[in-house]
Amino acid sequence: IPNLYLVRHGETYFNRERRIGGDSRLTEKGLHQAEQLAKHFQNVQVPFIFTSTKTRTIQMAEIIAACQEKSVHVPLKELDEIDAGICESMTYDEIRKQHPQIHVARSMDKYRYIYPEGEGYITLQPRIQLGIKKALYLSGNAENIIIIGHQAVNRMILSYFLFRRMEDVPYIYIPQDKYFHIVSTQTKKLFELKKF
Ligand code: F6P
Repeated sequence: IPNLYLVRHGETYFNRERRIGGDSRLTEKGLHQAEQLAKHFQNVQVPFIFTSTKTRTIQMAEIIAACQEKSVHVPLKELDEIDAGICESMTYDEIRKQHPQIHVARSMDKYRYIYPEGEGYITLQPRIQLGIKKALYLSGNAENIIIIGHQAVNRMILSYFLFRRMEDVPYIYIPQDKYFHIVSTQTKKLFELKKF
C-alpha cells in the first residue's frame, strides 16, 4: 500500500474523564470529528478501513464508509487498545491513588511495564505486528488504506515508520483531530501529520 492513513478514533466519554480502556462510545464532539474526517476523505478512494473490535473505532469506520463509494470495513482484534488489566476503566488519578506502585513503576519504564493481568507496550508489539501483517495481506494491492486505531496502538504502528528509541514510543503524540499520512515505497518512507 503506497498510502496508509493512520487515524485515532475521535473523543469518547472515557477520554473526557481521562478514563482508560473500556468500550466507550464517541461523544458529540467525537462524532463530529468522524464526520469531518469522512468529508476529508470523500474524494479519496479508500477500499479498506481497518479498525479494532472496539465500538469507538467501529463508529468512526461506519461514518467514513458511508461517504465512500465502495469501502470494506475489517475489524481486527489485534488492533485493540492496550489491555490495562486491573486498571481498565480507571482514571489516571484513581490509579495514582489506589495503586501508587503501578503509577510509579509505569512512569519509570513505560515501554516495559506490564499491567497486572494486562499488557504493556512490550507485549503489545508482536500483536500489533500481526495486525499490520493481516491488514496488508487483506488489502492486497490497494492504493489507499485507513487504519483507525487507539493511542498506544497507533504509537506502536508509527514506531515501524519513524525512528524512535523504544523508550520514547509510549510518548509519541497521537491527537484526535489529526491523522498521520504515511507514504511508503520501496525506496522511501514519508510521513506527515495532517489536520482534517
Ligand atoms: O486514554 C486513552 C487510551 O487509549 C487508553 O485506553 C490507554 O490505556 C491509553 O490511552 C494508552 O496511553 P498511555 O500508554 O499513555 O496510558
